[in-house]
Amino acid sequence: MSNYHIKHLEEYYQVYRKSVRNPEVFWEEIAEEHFMWRKKWNKILSWDFSKPEVKWFEGAQLNITENCIDRHLYTRGDKTAILFEPNNPSEGAQHITYKELHDRVCRFSNVLKAQGIRKGDRVCIYLPMIPELAVSVLACARIGAIHSVVFAGFSANALATRINDSDCKMVITSDGSYRGTKTIDLKGIVDDALDNCSCVETVLVAKRIHSEVNMKEDRDQWLQPLLDSASPKCTPEIMDAEDSLFILYTSGSTGQPKGMVHSTAGYMIYSAYTFKNVFQYKEDDVYWCTADIGWITGHSYIVYGPLANGATTVMFEGVPSYPDFGRFWDIVEKHKITQFYTAPTAIRALAKEGVEHLEKYDLSSLKVLGTVGEPINEEAWHWYDDNVGKKKAPIVDTWWQTETGGIMITPIPFATPTKPTYATLPFPGIQPALMDENGNEIKGNQVDGRLCIKFPWPSMARTIWGNHQRYKDTYFSAFENMYFTGDGALRDEVGYYRITGRVDDVIIVSGHNLGTAPIEDAINEHPAVAESAIVGFPHEIKGNALYGYITLKDTGEGRNQDNVRKEINQIITEQIGPIAKLDTIQFTNGLPKTRSGKIMRRILRKIAHKDASNLGDISTLLNPEVVQDIMDNAL
Ligand code: WTA
Repeated sequence: MSNYHIKHLEEYYQVYRKSVRNPEVFWEEIAEEHFMWRKKWNKILSWDFSKPEVKWFEGAQLNITENCIDRHLYTRGDKTAILFEPNNPSEGAQHITYKELHDRVCRFSNVLKAQGIRKGDRVCIYLPMIPELAVSVLACARIGAIHSVVFAGFSANALATRINDSDCKMVITSDGSYRGTKTIDLKGIVDDALDNCSCVETVLVAKRIHSEVNMKEDRDQWLQPLLDSASPKCTPEIMDAEDSLFILYTSGSTGQPKGMVHSTAGYMIYSAYTFKNVFQYKEDDVYWCTADIGWITGHSYIVYGPLANGATTVMFEGVPSYPDFGRFWDIVEKHKITQFYTAPTAIRALAKEGVEHLEKYDLSSLKVLGTVGEPINEEAWHWYDDNVGKKKAPIVDTWWQTETGGIMITPIPFATPTKPTYATLPFPGIQPALMDENGNEIKGNQVDGRLCIKFPWPSMARTIWGNHQRYKDTYFSAFENMYFTGDGALRDEVGYYRITGRVDDVIIVSGHNLGTAPIEDAINEHPAVAESAIVGFPHEIKGNALYGYITLKDTGEGRNQDNVRKEINQIITEQIGPIAKLDTIQFTNGLPKTRSGKIMRRILRKIAHKDASNLGDISTLLNPEVVQDIMDNAL
C-alpha cells in the first residue's frame, strides 16, 4: 500500500483510517518519502485550537523552490514545467522547461535581493496570467520573502487596502494586460493605488502590452533589463517549516479582507499530496487548471502542487470566449490536456453557448475533470460529464477554501464513485464534522449541519496577517475546539458530503467570494444613499448575483434613478472591482430591522429569491410596514 498514491476505493479507506488513527505517523511518512529537507523536524505536530495555534514539522528546514524546481533538474530538467498559452492564440504557446524555470526564478530572486528585499519582507504581486507571475511567486519563496498576490481584476482601492494591510515594500506589475479583445491598464491602477501607500519603495514593471506608461523616478523600474543582467544562480534561503510562505486575501462577512497566512512545510506537503491523488497525476500528463494565480486555486494547483510533483502545468492568459467559445477545447486538443480543472460558472457559461463549440475538437486526451469554487448544480455536472468527459473522465468536485490551503473533500478519481453535486468523501487527514446550532456534533448519516473540521491538517492557514484575534473569532469561536468553515453541508446515506453553500454573509458570485460589508460601504459613499443591504440571489451562469436594496436620502424624486444605479455600480467598480457590481438595484423606503437596529437580511434574501410566501413572524420588527412595500416593488 502506498500512502502517497491511492488507486482504488479499498485503499482510500485504508489510508483514510490510518490518517485518522495516527495522523502524525501518516504525515511523517509522506514528508519523509517525497520531499527534500535541509534538516528534519523535531516534532511532527503541536496544536491547540483554543489559542488557536498549529505547528507542523517544527524544527525542519527547507526551501519550497528546491522541492518545486531544483530537485527535478537531474531527472526532468528538459521537461516542460510551465506551458504558457497566451491570450491571442496566434502568438503561440511557450514551453518553459524545469531548467529554464530554474534560471528565470534565480535571476528574479537576485533582482529582488538587489532591490533590497529580504527574508520576511512582503512583496505584492499584481500581474496578469503571464509567466512572470509564477516566476515572481517562486522568486519570493526562494529568498524567503512573503508574497501577496492580488488578483489583477481588483481596483486601485482594493489593491491599496491589501498593500497597506501587510505593509508591502515592493509591487510587481506589468504595463498592462490582455483580456480577450480588451487591454487593461494595470500600471495606471498601481499608480492610483500607490497614491495611498507609503510603504512601497519599489515597483518592478514587466512589459506585456507595450503601452506607454508613466514611470515614476526612484520608484519604478522595468523588469527585463534587471533580469538580463542578474546572475542565473541563487542559493535558496533556508526556511523553517513554520515560516510564512505567503499571504492571500479573502473576503469575510464583515470588515476588510482577511490576509490568510500560509506556512511553508505543511502547505507544501499538502498541496503536493492532494495534487497527486485528486488528479491522479502521472509523469507524462499535461495538467491544466483554468483559475487565476490571484486565487488560492492557482497558488496550490497551478504553481506549488503541480511543480512539487514535477508536472507540466498550463498557465492560460485569456478568457473562455476569445477568439470564440471553443477556446478551452482548442487548448485541450492542442496540448493534449489530461486533467482539466475549472469552475462551475465557466461550465455554465460554456454550456449556454451550445455543444457545437466543442464538437469540433478532439477531447479524448482528458482523463480527469475537476470543479471548484462553488456548489455545482446537477445540470452543469451532467453537461460536463456528457460533453467534455464523454462519461469516461470522472469529475472531481473539490471542496476547499483559501483558508484550508488545499482540497479537503473530494472524490479520488477511479477510486471514489462520483455522485452529481456531491464533493463525496474527506481527503486523508481531514476529519469533518456537522454541527447543530447548539454546538453539538450531529452524528450518523442523512443529516445536515454546519461544516467544521475537528483536527488540524498541514496546510491550514496559521493566522490572519496582523490580526490573530480575528482569526480566532472567525474560525475557532463558533464551535468549541473546531475549525468552522462558514459552509453548510449534508451527509447522505453512505457518508458522502454535499456542500449546500455559505451560512454567513459571504456571497459567491462566479466563484469569487464577496463580503457584503465592503460592498455596502462602497454604496454608502454615494452622496444620495442613506443605507443599503446586499443579498445574493440565484443566477443561471454566475451561481449567485447581487441584489441591492438601497434607501436614498430623499425620496429620490427629481433624480434619474437609472443614473443613480449606474453611479452606484461605478463606485463599486472603483472601490472593489467589476466582479462586485450589482445585478439588481431596488430603491426602498426603508430596510427591515430588528428592534436592536440590525438589518434582517433573511427577509431581504427571501424576497430576492422570489420566495416571500413564508417570511415568518415579522411583527417583532422595528418597522414591519416596510416589508410589504419592498415586496410590492421587488424587481
Ligand atoms: C465554496 C476556493 C461547493 C465554499 C478554493 C467555500 C465550494 C468557498 C466548493 C471558498 C465546492 C469551494 N462545492 N462549494 N466544490 N469549493 N466552495 O476561498 O463556500 O475562494 O467556503 O476557495 O467556496 O472559496 P475560496
